[in-house]
Amino acid sequence: MAKMEVKTSLLDNMIGVGDMVLLEPLNEETFINNLKKRFDHNEIYTYIGSVVISVNPYRSLPIYSPEKVEDYRNRNFYELSPHIFALSDEAYRSLRDQDKDQCILITGESGAGKTEASKLVMSYVAAVCGKGAEVNQVKEQLLQSNPVLEAFGNAKTVRNDNSSRFGKYMDIEFDFKGDPLGGVISNYLLEKSRVVKQPRGERNFHVFYQLLSGASEELLNKLKLERDFSRYNYLSLDSAKVNGVDDAANFRTVRNAMQIVGFMDHEAESVLEVVAAVLKLGNIEFKPESRVNGLDESKIKDKNELKEICELTGIDQSVLERAFSFRTVEAKQEKVSTTLNVAQAYYARDALAKNLYSRLFSWLVNRINESIKAQTKVRKKVMGVLDIYGFEIFEDNSFEQFIINYCNEKLQQIFIELTLKEEQEEYIREDIEWTHIDYFNNAIICDLIENNTNGILAMLDEECLRPGTVTDETFLEKLNQVCATHQHFESRMSKCSRFLNDTSLPHSCFRIQHYAGKVLYQVEGFVDKNNDLLYRDLSQAMWKAGHTLIKSLFPEGNPAKINLKRPPTAGSQFKASVATLMKNLQTKNPNYIRCIKPNDKKAAHIFNEALVCHQIRYLGLLENVRVRRAGYAFRQAYEPCLERYKMLCKQTWPHWKGPARAGVEVLFNELEIPVEEYSFGRSKIFIRNPRTLFKLEDLRKQRLEDLATLIQKIYRGWKCRTHFLLMRRSQVVIAAWYRRYAQQKRYQQIKSSALVIQSYIRGWKARKILRELKHQKRCEEAATTIAAYWHGTQVRREYRKFFRANAGKKIYEFTIQRIVQKYFLEMKNKMPSLSPIDKNWPLRPYLFLDSTHKELKRIFHLWRCKKYRDQFTDQQKLIYEEKLEASELFKDKKALYPSSVGQPFQGAYLEISKNPKYKKLKDAIEEKIIIAEVVNKINRANGKSTSRIFLLTNNNLLLADQKSGQIKSEVPLVDVTKVSMSSQNDGFFAIHLKEGSEAASKGDFLFSSDHLIEMATKLYRTTLSQTKQKLNIEISDEFLVQFRQDKVCVKFIQGSQKNGSVPTCKRKNNRLLEVAVP
Ligand SMILES: Nc1ncnc2c1ncn2[C@@H]1O[C@H](COP(=O)(O)OP(=O)(O)O)[C@@H](O)[C@H]1O
Ligand SMILES: [Mg+2]
Repeated sequence: MAKMEVKTSLLDNMIGVGDMVLLEPLNEETFINNLKKRFDHNEIYTYIGSVVISVNPYRSLPIYSPEKVEDYRNRNFYELSPHIFALSDEAYRSLRDQDKDQCILITGESGAGKTEASKLVMSYVAAVCGKGAEVNQVKEQLLQSNPVLEAFGNAKTVRNDNSSRFGKYMDIEFDFKGDPLGGVISNYLLEKSRVVKQPRGERNFHVFYQLLSGASEELLNKLKLERDFSRYNYLSLDSAKVNGVDDAANFRTVRNAMQIVGFMDHEAESVLEVVAAVLKLGNIEFKPESRVNGLDESKIKDKNELKEICELTGIDQSVLERAFSFRTVEAKQEKVSTTLNVAQAYYARDALAKNLYSRLFSWLVNRINESIKAQTKVRKKVMGVLDIYGFEIFEDNSFEQFIINYCNEKLQQIFIELTLKEEQEEYIREDIEWTHIDYFNNAIICDLIENNTNGILAMLDEECLRPGTVTDETFLEKLNQVCATHQHFESRMSKCSRFLNDTSLPHSCFRIQHYAGKVLYQVEGFVDKNNDLLYRDLSQAMWKAGHTLIKSLFPEGNPAKINLKRPPTAGSQFKASVATLMKNLQTKNPNYIRCIKPNDKKAAHIFNEALVCHQIRYLGLLENVRVRRAGYAFRQAYEPCLERYKMLCKQTWPHWKGPARAGVEVLFNELEIPVEEYSFGRSKIFIRNPRTLFKLEDLRKQRLEDLATLIQKIYRGWKCRTHFLLMRRSQVVIAAWYRRYAQQKRYQQIKSSALVIQSYIRGWKARKILRELKHQKRCEEAATTIAAYWHGTQVRREYRKFFRANAGKKIYEFTIQRIVQKYFLEMKNKMPSLSPIDKNWPLRPYLFLDSTHKELKRIFHLWRCKKYRDQFTDQQKLIYEEKLEASELFKDKKALYPSSVGQPFQGAYLEISKNPKYKKLKDAIEEKIIIAEVVNKINRANGKSTSRIFLLTNNNLLLADQKSGQIKSEVPLVDVTKVSMSSQNDGFFAIHLKEGSEAASKGDFLFSSDHLIEMATKLYRTTLSQTKQKLNIEISDEFLVQFRQDKVCVKFIQGSQKNGSVPTCKRKNNRLLEVAVP
């Protein structure tokens, strides 16, 4: 937040008024109401100018967190709501940055929260000041001094469970950077009477209870103590235990704190030994013992306790015992020893205990100071924290209250002085005219008490020192004489008769009108307490102790330094120390914390108005406000003032360009604030009446509301508009998309509908066209048909005369033509292969084409034979010519023929030229041999056959012996007339010769040969080519053969199987040869 430079002010969110100076109207009632209102809202801090009023909440509030420390750190005093941290920060910064020594004065009655406040201040300063190991150690020591002092100096009272029973002033020392260096503690007036006696419901100092609860058995044994509180007379028993306080734990805390602060172990032990001794002292009891001289003498009842004390402290038992029984008075170098009666013995015992304890306490403070004192000699800055008892008004007020109230009177004095001084200084600084302020100055009361000649303290000292019987009554008388005329002194017995009839003023009392109210003091005990007497015998006995700490506590017991002068009285001691304190405080810049106790019950949430009213009175808070308000109630630097109120005027809002002061002037003129209500200082504006300020505040509040409304309005407008624009944009986008979608959908629909319609229409159209076309076609067809018919009719009518004669023929011809054409075309595709032996021929499709078909087959065959033949060589041709000739001659005539077709005609089966056997034969023939073959020559006689070589040449037919080759017959071809053979499957043939020729003398020849067909054919051909005559070939199953002179018939018959498969020839008779052909 601080970084954001948020300008805030005390005036923000104020509950009641945060600064009493602004209270309007100002009186006790409004003051209390304001405090109460704030208290009820947990605002326990309120300002009077720079003074902080703190009301004890009696419960922990969440306002001291580290975050709060950060909040208040480096902020101006009036910037945030009132807080003790604001004051601490102000003081610390003033010390660090402006080099001003500070003192923080914390006042208030017991239980109002002073000690807590002082601790809060210290912890805040510790939190914000420098860091580092060394600095932290110093801080730690300073903070840890508190538990030690509280253990020894605090006690439970009816007002406060942890009431400080001493005044404390602590100087914290800093170096130039603001880092803590160390500290010095001063203590004031420990309430030592508490050691021996406590009021009802209260306790002795904490340390006694802590020791007995928290010490180990071992330690207790060493100290010769028992854990049981009830063993000790000095410990009040009715409130030995305090709610919510753990004495044992606190004991450990204290011992730990002592260690941190720097106590050696033996020192801490010594301290506890003294504490134990004090406790045990209370258990020493006395009994009276009559003496011879008739005087009562006291005797110690039970010496056991005494013995233990002496063992503990190292004192000779007899010395101590004597000190409790006798008192030595020295006067004019004479020692007079008198016995003590029982009462005196008890007095002596208690005096010793009180002295022992209070001196131990002072020693502790000194010892702590030794530890925490700054280690350097450099110049230091100092912040003093004064936690001192406030005004005390009880029912019974005694010497202590008197002293305390005196101290407060002095503090009030210095407060007034310093406040006024500061106020005045500020006026001078700011160049504002100083007007006299009417206020009550309590200097007169201080004077009544401390005046060296006739002050009450002086009177008391005088009485104490006076020889003769001195009692409290004589002291009161003296007062009545001396102070009677003083306006603030009241006594029934005074010469002045003013109070003669005042029954509220008892005779043994005097009353002082303190600045904070009237206090009635019981005069009883004043003298004794002021004397603070410890018999010399006791102090000497203490000095003789073997215990070094105790010895050091009683230096006056040293007989060498014997001093007959009385020790200074308690009153004068206190006066002196207060004087030093005041002097000290005067040199410093004061900061005030005024603590108020809201109720007597130590309870949260209860605000007892009467009680608070009482405190406000004696703290003089109203006085305080009046002083502060005497001139101007409120002041503020120009910049923050302008910053806070600039919205109230057009010229200054929102920005003022010129100097702040001019801005404020413009602002105040504009607002028509009466001139007497304010003054311009050098750096601050001074406002006389809080009213004016509140008017400004109200205006500001109103204006802020307006501005807030304006901002709200503009913001809402802006927001709505942006929202609207966004919606509109979105709407447009959505609409666009939707339209697109809708249009697309619609388009798709239209498209599909159009397609459907289109298809229907097209279909319809197409069907229509189709129908039309069909119709048209039918029409055309009809027309054509009609025309055709018509035409036909016409034609027929016209051609009827021709038609009857020719139509049939023509149609026939045409049909035939067509069929033939088709036939040929089909034939073309169905032609068989070119092989002459292929017998396949397509089937005849039509009967009438039968002959053609055959003819075609024949032609085709011839053609393919020709084709086949054309491939032949001349020799082959010849062979085939021969074969053809054979075919012509024998086919279908001779049964032998088919078997000869497959045999090639070789002619020369006998190779005469190669066979040497036939050399002669060969040589005899000059012509070309056409046939050379072995044949069987059938004998006419028996029908048996003889082998002969049959040779045919161009001109001759030769027969030769097969074995010798000798020519048997030679027949020129011209003599051959005929060849006969059967039609059957046999090789018999006859060659008939020309009658009359030379060759015919022997007759015809009958042969059988395997190559009949070849031989007959070749013979036919050779004859034809030589003689140009066709040889007659007769085929008959019966022919005649001319053997020499006889003609023999050769008959061919069907032979039976039993004759074999070869034809056989048999002579039947002279005229018949029978050939059986199987
Ligand atoms: N600021 C505070 N917040 C919470 N409790 C507080 C505060 N101040 C005082 N107290 C309570 O009041 C009690 C008495 O305070 P203390 O400072 O000892 O009084 P004093 O020193 O004035 O006698 C404390 O023990 C504590 O319980
Ligand atoms: Mg206290």
